[in-house]
Amino acid sequence: MTIFYHIAVDKEDLCTFAADYWLRCYSEAVASGRKFSIALSGGGTPKSLYQLMASKKYSEQIDWRKVDVFFGDERCVPLDHVDSNYLMATTALLGNIDIPVTNIHSVPFFQGEQARSADSYQHEIRQHLFHDENNIPQFDLVLLGMGDDGHTASLFPGTTILEEQKRWVSEVYVQRLDSWRISLTYPVINNTRHIMVLVAGAAKSEKIAEILLETGVSEKYPIQGVAGRGDMLWLMDKAAAANLDGVISAELMDDVT
Ligand code: 6PG
Repeated sequence: MTIFYHIAVDKEDLCTFAADYWLRCYSEAVASGRKFSIALSGGGTPKSLYQLMASKKYSEQIDWRKVDVFFGDERCVPLDHVDSNYLMATTALLGNIDIPVTNIHSVPFFQGEQARSADSYQHEIRQHLFHDENNIPQFDLVLLGMGDDGHTASLFPGTTILEEQKRWVSEVYVQRLDSWRISLTYPVINNTRHIMVLVAGAAKSEKIAEILLETGVSEKYPIQGVAGRGDMLWLMDKAAAANLDGVISAELMDDVT
């Protein structure tokens, strides 16, 4: 795995860099003769990126018929619920581009049947996603965020999903949120060609420094279990990277676009 870091001036710069990287990964897939597959992240940070991707400048550079959109994780709520990652992505992007509805693979919701949702989503992935030589699904690009507790997707500290090595999708009860989630597991996330972690805001700066500088942390945070077989881009704004000043050397700050 090759790790890249890029510190953007602000959130707008971060989104522009992320959009250019997204385009690069899309072009690589299409040039290889396959559809481009992406797993979107939830949360607040990526929403501005999705809105930028829906703009003419970016959306007109993509043939959305060659794109399959999945979700890295989802809350166990109806797709029209305010907490739904699908609703957020549809409002910011999917509802504003010319993408066939059959290319959008949302996480099925069954009230009170979280395992059924996970198994149905795993079946959707099995049906519609490229599988590698080991018959493991392989995304071209997975977008991830990082919570201030070091979680990513719905891989939260202290949850059983962190141990899952067989299922590609699992249900997980998050005590801290008193809610169920559906999430991709490490085996699928770590089989991805390109992983982009979007981290913005001062609230993340302490955790980012702990993780990237490995300053004496005993426990590993869930985001540290992400070690893709391809490349991994840590894309931060200055606020989130405030405690990294000068520590991540220039040569590591490769511009990946
Ligand atoms: C979700 C996300 C989650 C998110 C982090 C960071 O469904 O909420 O998948 O993992 O990426 O919580 O969220 P922010 O980017 O909003 O800080």
